[in-house]
Amino acid sequence: MIDEFLAAQVCVFGIPMYNYGVPANFKAYIDQIVRVGRTFAVTANGYEGLVTDDKKILVITTRGGSYKNSPLDFQEPYLKAIFELIGVTDVSFIHAENLAMGDEARQQSLSQARQVIQQFIATFAAS
Ligand SMILES: Cc1cc2nc3c(=O)[nH]c(=O)nc-3n(C[C@H](O)[C@H](O)[C@H](O)COP(=O)(O)O)c2cc1C
Repeated sequence: MIDEFLAAQVCVFGIPMYNYGVPANFKAYIDQIVRVGRTFAVTANGYEGLVTDDKKILVITTRGGSYKNSPLDFQEPYLKAIFELIGVTDVSFIHAENLAMGDEARQQSLSQARQVIQQFIATFAAS
């Protein structure tokens, strides 16, 4: 898993929000790839990320509710922190929210998220 992660120029993760955080299987994946001596080192100056290429990470989340500016969003800050620990700072998020708030809100949110994903792909392809 670490080899696969390191080999990728771009990593795209699609995850639902579960209980304000990441699902247990995604946490298990994090626990596989965030390993001392492989993706980060412990030095006299503290932790040092060993992922030194210009890797991009895109995290697409789906959520029943909405967490804009909410302290209950434990996904984005956690994932930013954990990827920064291993040396990846180019981390983008696209959230499809309000999926449990009725069909209209759900469809609107999904179509908006699809548009933002297309923009992300176009920007990436042009870079
Ligand atoms: C165990 C579990 C916990 C969940 N916790 C949250 C949560 O904390 N916040 C939230 O907005 N949605 C939560 N949801 C809703 C999921 O995020 C939502 O089901 C998922 O994004 C996929 O949408 P869909 O099931 O409508 O296809 C939870 C769903 C499950 C099954």
